[in-house]
Amino acid sequence: MTETKQPLLTMRNVSKAFGHVQALIDVDLDVAPGEVMGLLGDNGAGKSTLIKILSGVYHADEGEFTRDGAPAAIAGPGDAQALGIATVYQDLALVETRAVAHNIYLGREPRRWGMLSRRKMEKDAETLLKNLNINLPSVKVDVEVLSGGQRQAVAISRALAQGGDILLLDEPTAALGVEQTEQVHHLVGSMRDQGKSIILITHDLSDVLKVADRIVVLRQGRLWADARAADIDINQIIGWITGALPSRFGAKEAQA
Ligand SMILES: Nc1ncnc2c1ncn2[C@@H]1O[C@H](COP(=O)(O)OP(=O)(O)OP(=O)(O)O)[C@@H](O)[C@H]1O
Ligand SMILES: [Mg+2]
Repeated sequence: MTETKQPLLTMRNVSKAFGHVQALIDVDLDVAPGEVMGLLGDNGAGKSTLIKILSGVYHADEGEFTRDGAPAAIAGPGDAQALGIATVYQDLALVETRAVAHNIYLGREPRRWGMLSRRKMEKDAETLLKNLNINLPSVKVDVEVLSGGQRQAVAISRALAQGGDILLLDEPTAALGVEQTEQVHHLVGSMRDQGKSIILITHDLSDVLKVADRIVVLRQGRLWADARAADIDINQIIGWITGALPSRFGAKEAQA
């Protein structure tokens, strides 16, 4: 690969089948520190499966992982969290009728004398948002009044509240308009500038080249292409996604 720094995370020969469907086949992938990886591919290519394996929701049938060069196991969400992996799923799973602060600490609310401490939650949430350089009108407003882009920001803050440095985003802009999409991409760039690594799944090909440092394409469960965003254009990406362009990895590992 092009990276010279030691990868944060490596995956080798990762495979996963659901019954007769081979969702991932022998995928090798490294995540470098402080990069935005655009993970692309047609419907059913295996993108979400890969994310779910990394976040401990699915267990790979085969494959090895390392974190900072050391062998790592991902048997469940707790393992993923311990490896610094934070995930935002497409449905976000926010509670509309709860405040921003509460959503960020959902399930882990700070308590005093057994009582939920709203003030501490709000203070902690404000500090977290400030540290992440995320701008929201107030941590006291309910999520239901926020825009789609702001909701993504809340979901990202919640994912990162436990200190992860690898952020997995599965189609964060799928339901958003142009301006909100831009807000989310700005946020992704800001996270990267803070040293986080981000895997961004998107179908938005025109935008991904702007926000990603690197483009990875899955096709029919296989790693099809892995290139620096600066070296390629949208037509190449489309060619890889559709299979009009051959895999950069030939039969498997032969790199073109
Ligand atoms: N829980 C599951 N049970 C059975 N089959 C599954 C399951 N999850 C994924 N699959 C299958 O695995 C393949 C890969 O699915 P996956 O969701 O990873 O694709 P994707 O690249 O995220 O697609 P999309 O762009 O549509 O979200 C598909 O054929 C899908 O039907
Ligand atoms: Mg998916």
